Amino acid sequence: MANNKLQQASTNLLGWVDERFPLTSNVKAHLTEYYAPKNFNFWYFFGSLALLVLVLQILTGIFLTMNYKPEATLAFASVEYIMRDVSWGRLIRYMHSTGASMFFVVVYLHMFRGLIYGSYRTPRELIWLFGVGIFLVLMGEAFFGYLLPWGQMSYWGAQVIINLFTSIPFIGPDISLWLRGDYTVSDATLNRFFAFHVIALPLVLLGLVVAHLIALHEVGSNNPDGVEIKKHKDPKTKIPLDGIPFHPYYTVKDLVGVSVFLIVFSAIIFFAPEMGGYFLEANNFIPADPLKTPPHIAPVWYFTPYYSILRAVPPILNSQFPGVAAMGLSVVSFAFLPWLDRSPVKSIRYRGNLYKKWLAAFVVSFLILGYLGTEPSNVWGQFAPETLIVGGADRATVVARIFSLVYFSFFALMPWYTKKDKTKPVPERVTA
Ligand code: HEM
Repeated sequence: MANNKLQQASTNLLGWVDERFPLTSNVKAHLTEYYAPKNFNFWYFFGSLALLVLVLQILTGIFLTMNYKPEATLAFASVEYIMRDVSWGRLIRYMHSTGASMFFVVVYLHMFRGLIYGSYRTPRELIWLFGVGIFLVLMGEAFFGYLLPWGQMSYWGAQVIINLFTSIPFIGPDISLWLRGDYTVSDATLNRFFAFHVIALPLVLLGLVVAHLIALHEVGSNNPDGVEIKKHKDPKTKIPLDGIPFHPYYTVKDLVGVSVFLIVFSAIIFFAPEMGGYFLEANNFIPADPLKTPPHIAPVWYFTPYYSILRAVPPILNSQFPGVAAMGLSVVSFAFLPWLDRSPVKSIRYRGNLYKKWLAAFVVSFLILGYLGTEPSNVWGQFAPETLIVGGADRATVVARIFSLVYFSFFALMPWYTKKDKTKPVPERVTA
């Protein structure tokens, strides 16, 4: 009896809400009657994991902001205060710093899934472009956040990267000055980086993620076979024959991914939050000192492939602009993929060897460039006793140049090798 009354009350409440806000219709359209391909594999975990990390970063960020002081003489000490005196402060800080790295791990795997299954191809170009936008904003978000602890690496990293903008012809010096808010990295820089990090970029990021998901739900997900499930619908119900409702099937499946992710995430936070200097560098536990340049300035691991490309390109007429342009292009190149790929098939399952080999070469060059970027620039020099010098450049530079070429060739030659590749016949329906 009591149960019936409760049920009646909740139905009434839902009815009341539905008359004023499209709740039930949206839950149906995006969850219980949103049909996703039935053959998703583990590669499809990373979108929802990226959402999870986004929420974690926002929540932990809110709590960090409660005790953080965006002021040059107080910032470093306020982070130490969070670590030592604030209840659960150490956990919150490590969740946020580990979350930053895990965000990139998850997003890189999410993008790689796009590459193997051709998820950027028609009709999903806009999902992909919003994704590339997210990626660029995420890089900005990580860069601005890194200055906030005001450690040596925060300070000098910002100094180096902002100075790079100076090399852009005509507008470069003004851009650098605008970013810094001063002629050197200072309190003014810290204040504006704080504003960008806690409000400006998170708003843009959230907007882009919403656009990403709206575009996704408009056209529907791709899948490991790269076939369109909307082509085969039940004539009566109009439901795709190879589709299953997102909720409960994929909400439950995603929970498995979330559980595994949280185990790995907790293990890092509790046992190796600095990750051997890859997630938090030792130098950043030293307060920023504008008069003392650290011997080894390197960005965090997720930026190092692009940093290597920057270092691999030689300056022309004493200008670093070619390197800066190459670095920018290496990130923006992803946006052109939907128009570079000429293959008649989407998924790697039905592509020929040519694409597979190029993709493998791209991944290997990304990893090698990433590794080289973590090495100090003086090591690039030390690597080069006279015998190792090739054509005036040390060995590490030569290796970085070769792999930068491979990296760019993956994009530049794509129209040619995807067209030439011998593909296999694609099935009409998914092969779950
Ligand atoms: C904050 C970062 C991001 C979030 C929260 C996010 C979220 C999602 C979600 C929830 C999905 C559906 C589930 C899935 O297919 O895995 C998805 C699909 C997709 N995302 Fe993202 N994403 C992010 C970044 C990116 C980036 C950086 C790219 C590419 C540059 C990208 C490209 C795609 C594509 C192409 C799809 C459709 C995949 C398919 O249908 O096979 N996303 N995203």
